Amino acid sequence: MGTNPFQLLILSDIHYAGNKECLRRDHEARAIENPALRLLARLYRHWFWLRDPFAHNHLLEEVISRERHPAMVVVNGDLSCDTAFVGHSDEASFESASDCLKRLRTAYGEKLWVTYGDHELGKASLFGARGGLRCASWDRCEQGLNIAPFWHRRLGAYHCIGVASSVVALRLFLPEILESERARWLSLRDEHVERIRAAFDNVQPQERVLLFCHDPSALPFLLEIPSVAGRISQVEHTVVGHLHSQFILRLSRKLAGLPPIHFLGNSVRRMSSALRNARLWEHFRVLLCPSLAGIERFKDGGYWRATLDLTGNVPVVFHFHPLPWRRGIDN
Ligand SMILES: [Fe+2]
Repeated sequence: MGTNPFQLLILSDIHYAGNKECLRRDHEARAIENPALRLLARLYRHWFWLRDPFAHNHLLEEVISRERHPAMVVVNGDLSCDTAFVGHSDEASFESASDCLKRLRTAYGEKLWVTYGDHELGKASLFGARGGLRCASWDRCEQGLNIAPFWHRRLGAYHCIGVASSVVALRLFLPEILESERARWLSLRDEHVERIRAAFDNVQPQERVLLFCHDPSALPFLLEIPSVAGRISQVEHTVVGHLHSQFILRLSRKLAGLPPIHFLGNSVRRMSSALRNARLWEHFRVLLCPSLAGIERFKDGGYWRATLDLTGNVPVVFHFHPLPWRRGIDN
C-alpha cells in the first residue's frame, strides 16, 4: 500500500473458458426443451448477447499485458462460463475458474481480490430448468479456489467491501436450490448478512465505502440491513458486474418497477422480480463494470481503472478502458 494516489484495477465477468468448457458448444440451447424458446435463446445469443462465449480468453491476457503495476485488483465475479449451470462444483467450470485465477495470481499475487458472481455458485439456465445454486460450489470456491465470499479491506479513509450477491439475494434464488440444501443456504445467508452488518458498523462517520457486489439485484436486499441503510450516504460507489454492458444497465433503469414475469421459468421470474426494485439501486451510486468482451450487439467490453485519494478528501476518479473486439477462430 502506501502509494497515494492509489491505483485500483477493476475487472468483471471474465467468463474464462477452459478446455473442458470449450467442448460444450451450444450448451444453453441444448438445455431448453421447448423448440420455440430454444430458437429464441439462440437468436438472442447470436445477435445480441454473445455469439461465441468461448472465444474471449485473450481479453484477460490483453488486460494483464496492459496493466502491470496496479496497487490492487478487484475481479467482480463470474470467472468461468458455468456451462453446467451449477457453478464450480462442475469440473469443467472449476477448471476454467482455476485457469483464470492462475493467470491473475501470476500477474498480481496478493493484490488480487475476488468477489463471487452468480456463476461461481450456479444459477438456472435461461428458459431452462437446469442447474441452480449448489453448496458444493460454495465449498469449492473457498477450498479449491481459495477465494472468500466476503472480504473487507481498509485503505486509508476507505472501506472496500466485497459481498456475494447470490447469497444476499437468496430469496430470489430459493426456487433454484435443492430442498436438501435449503437449511444450509439460509444459514450461510444469515452468517453473510451478519458479516456485512459488522463491517458497516465499523465505518466511522468521516469514512467512505467502496462496495463490490456482482449482481445489482442484491442491492435492495442490502438496504434491508439497518447498518447498511444507516450508512448508505457514505457508500461513494457500488461497483456491480453481471449486466455485461452499459446498455443493459440503462435498460434496467428504464424497466424499473416492471411487474414480475412468472411464465418463462425461474431465470426470467428472478430477473423481472429484480427489476421491480431496481429504483433502489440509485441509493448505491452504481457503477457498472462490463464484461471484458461486452455484448455482441455493441462490442462494448472493457474495464475500469480507479484512482483513490486515501485521505478521502477527493472523490474516486474512474477511467474506463475499452478492449478491442476480436473474433474467435470459430466465427
Ligand atoms: Fe456474467
